Amino acid sequence: MEIAKIISIDELMEMVSVGGMLRTGIDLFNKNNVLLLSGDHVVNNVNTLLHLKTMGLTEIPINVENQGGIWDQYGNERSIAHESEGNHVPASELKKPADSRSTDIKKKIIEIHEVKREAEQKYKKAKKNIIKVIEDIKNTGGEFDYGLVENTVMDIFNFITRKENAFSYLTKELFSYDDYLYNHCLNVCIIGTAVIRRFNEHFSSEINKYLSNRYYENTHEHEKTSSASFLYYLPEELYDISIGFFLHDIGKIMVPEETLNKEGALSKEEFKLVKNHSLEYGIRLLNKNKVKSPFINNIIKYHHGILFKGEKNCYPSDRYYLENPAYVKICKLADIYDAMTSKRCYKEAFNPVVVVTDLFHEYAHKDPMLQFILHSFVNTVGIYPPGSLVFLRDGRMAYIVESQGPLVIPFTDTHGTTLSRQQDPIALDELGEDEEDLKIDRRKPVLSQAEVYSLLPSFLKESM
Ligand SMILES: [Fe+2]
Ligand SMILES: [Fe+2]
Repeated sequence: MEIAKIISIDELMEMVSVGGMLRTGIDLFNKNNVLLLSGDHVVNNVNTLLHLKTMGLTEIPINVENQGGIWDQYGNERSIAHESEGNHVPASELKKPADSRSTDIKKKIIEIHEVKREAEQKYKKAKKNIIKVIEDIKNTGGEFDYGLVENTVMDIFNFITRKENAFSYLTKELFSYDDYLYNHCLNVCIIGTAVIRRFNEHFSSEINKYLSNRYYENTHEHEKTSSASFLYYLPEELYDISIGFFLHDIGKIMVPEETLNKEGALSKEEFKLVKNHSLEYGIRLLNKNKVKSPFINNIIKYHHGILFKGEKNCYPSDRYYLENPAYVKICKLADIYDAMTSKRCYKEAFNPVVVVTDLFHEYAHKDPMLQFILHSFVNTVGIYPPGSLVFLRDGRMAYIVESQGPLVIPFTDTHGTTLSRQQDPIALDELGEDEEDLKIDRRKPVLSQAEVYSLLPSFLKESM
């Protein structure tokens, strides 16, 4: 029987605050079955433990037999075999952690297939559920099964928390515009959830340092007794935020389809209708279904709001940019990214590489907080997001499977002829010095899926 040792959370916080780190080797869930901490996640930020403490945890199990452990600030593993004798729980009573990410390419391919299969099932199930929610709203004049929304989002939320690379495989249908609203709700939920988790984990301590510095710069000596603002979303809040991403455009159901799909400029009246999807209709649907969360409310109402001082064409326009919380701004970025990389009845999908670069250029250096959000966004989606098409230096074209690495599958030969057999993925960060010609050729233009559609092999068309 595997045994998990129990360690006091205060002791762990003390250790992590001076540069130590830990991995539990066991997934930790709250009473609502929301994943609080993935067993394979390396905790090196004291905020992570702080939020577990605020959730009522006073001790943390460490399963040393499943890659759990504690390391001090010098990287030395601490022996915990003797810790808390008799104070242990059978690991079999807790959920098993995901397999740790392997650098070995063969293991990686197997893992990709597993994650991809699970992701496809989850996407399919979630799509069926969002279709039901939207049909219910249409048929009942506004009522929907909120429990179904909660379960659907929890499934995605836990999957993204559990699998580091899950985001890459929760793919969308790039060549179909039939189900735009359904796919868009899901994609914004997936992208937004992955981004806010990274923002929370990686940037909260940086932001708090920034806020503290500003506080100390701007405050008189005698007023320095209270602490500076603290920005960190608790798991329950993150979960509500994910539901908000999922429901952000729910008000569009009340806008005529011909207006939503219109090619070219909208009339004043049509634009007012479109604006009302967030300002009025979405909020009305929340109220009708007695959904009270301020996070969900803010996302629906302000996801087309202002990101930085002086930004134009936002609605509502009477709000100061600092009033829009970080999670609302993340929703807006995810919304723009998904809209640009999706095919619509009036436009083709843009290559994600171009979209992520344009977003960065558009919003970089406008405001320090937006900069943190943008970094979380680009680091999550990747400079080469999944689904992008690139040229390798040897002249072959390749498809990005996973942005971390990135991991690519070549699909043409060096003369541009489509390969008939599916190639194994190549991890570009593991190339040797003599394999320079396999790197991405940044001088060649990035092409959209539509531009090279005829060159794509069927296995890629199917997976898109
Ligand atoms: Fe919207
Ligand atoms: Fe949207």
